[in-house]
Amino acid sequence: MDLSLVTSGESHGPGITAVVTGLPAGLAVDRDRLRTDLGRRQAGYGRSPRQQLEKDDAEILGGLRHGRTLGGPLALIVRNRDHANWGAAMSAWPVTDEELAEVAARRSRRVVVPRPGHADLSGVLKYELDDVRNVLERASARETSARVAVGAIAKDLLALIGIAVHGHVTRIGAVAAPALPDLVPADFDRARASEVGCLDPATEAAMIAEIDEARKDRDTLGGVVEVRAFGCPPGLGSHTEPRLRLDARLAAAAVGIQAMKGVEIGDAWENAARRGSEVHDELAYEGGFRRDTNRAGGIEGGMTNGETVVVRIAMKPLPTLMKPLRTATLDTHEPATALVERSDTTAVAAAAVVAEAVVAFELARAAREKFGGDSVGDMLAAHEAYLARIPWRAPVFTRA
Ligand SMILES: Cc1cc2nc3c(=O)[nH]c(=O)nc-3n(C[C@H](O)[C@H](O)[C@H](O)COP(=O)(O)O)c2cc1C
Repeated sequence: MDLSLVTSGESHGPGITAVVTGLPAGLAVDRDRLRTDLGRRQAGYGRSPRQQLEKDDAEILGGLRHGRTLGGPLALIVRNRDHANWGAAMSAWPVTDEELAEVAARRSRRVVVPRPGHADLSGVLKYELDDVRNVLERASARETSARVAVGAIAKDLLALIGIAVHGHVTRIGAVAAPALPDLVPADFDRARASEVGCLDPATEAAMIAEIDEARKDRDTLGGVVEVRAFGCPPGLGSHTEPRLRLDARLAAAAVGIQAMKGVEIGDAWENAARRGSEVHDELAYEGGFRRDTNRAGGIEGGMTNGETVVVRIAMKPLPTLMKPLRTATLDTHEPATALVERSDTTAVAAAAVVAEAVVAFELARAAREKFGGDSVGDMLAAHEAYLARIPWRAPVFTRA
C-alpha cells in the first residue's frame, strides 16, 4: 500500500492543497493536533508579521467523514487569507489591465530582479518565464503549511502503532544547545513551549539574543533541527533496493524542505571521526534483542533497527535580507539590489515543525508498506502479528 502526497498552490493564490493516497479506512484524524501543528509552524521568535496575519486551518475536501478516513484519497486545503488582497494579481485566469490596476501596484508589477539564494533566477531560465513571481510564489515555504497538515495525519497513523515523532531546535546561528542523548517524548513539551523550539532554557535565552542581534544588523540566521521518532519497530524501510532505504528516504524528505541543506542520521559526522569499536551499537539478548547505545540513530541497512530514529537537518540562513544582496535585472542586466519584502529573521523553530511532519510522513509510508491493509483493523492486526513473531525488546521511553 503506497502512501503518496502531492501539494499544489502558490504563496498568494487561493490556498495550498494536498492530496494523500494510501491511508487506511477508519483512521481517526485528530483535529486538535492538525490545528496545533499548523499553529506551531506559524509561531517562533524572529518570524515576520505575515505569520500573525494568517491563522492557518485545514479544510478537508475529501476522504474524511465524521472524523474518520474512508480509504479513498484525502484532499485538504490550507487557505491563504492574504489572497483577498492579491485577487487579480494571482488570478488563475487572464485578467484585464483595469482589473490588474485595482490591486496595489507592488502586487501587479512584474518582478524582474532575481533574489540571490532563492529559486528565482534558475526558475525563470528553466521554465522560460519573464516574471520572477511565477517562480517565487511556488518556491515559497508557504507550501509547507499543507505538508504540516498531512504530517499531523501521518502522526495519527503512527500513534496507532506506538510511534511518536518530536522535533526541537539544537542550533540557531552560532548558538548551539548542549547534546541531550537520552530524551524521552515527554521532554519535548519544553520545546513546544519555547519560542525558539529549544529544550534547554539557558540556550533558549542565548538564541533569542542571537536573533535580536541579527535583526538589528538586518541579517538572517539558519540553524539545526533534530527530529526523533520513538517506538519504531525493527524493519521499516528495506536493504533490498537503494530507493527503499529508509535513511535515503528520510534524507530526501529532509532536504526537500525549503532551505534545508544537510542531513545527519544518528551521530554520523562524529562517527566519521571515530573508530568502529567506538561507533557500532553492540547487541545483547535479554528477553529479546536490544542495544545499550544508539549512535546509528535507529537505522542500519536502510531499515529501522528498533531504536529511536534520530535525524538532524541543517538550515541555511534565510536568503531574503533586510540588508539587500547584490543582483542584476532580467531585462537590462543592470546591477540591482534584491527586493526587500517583509521576511523572517530566522525560521528554524518553524522548520522543526515541518521536519517533524516530513519525517512522520516517511515513517507512515514505510509503515503502510510493512503492515498494509485496507482498514486500520487490518493494519493493526498485521502489526500485532509481526511484533509477536520477532524477538525484539522495545526500548522504554519513560523516566525511571
Ligand atoms: C518555515 C520556513 C520559512 C521560511 N521563511 C522564509 C522567509 O521569510 N524569507 C526567506 O527568504 N526565505 C524563507 N524560507 C526559505 C526559502 O523558502 C528558501 O530558502 C528558498 O525557497 C530557496 O530554496 P532553497 O533554500 O531550498 O534552495 C523559509 C523556509 C522555511 C522552511
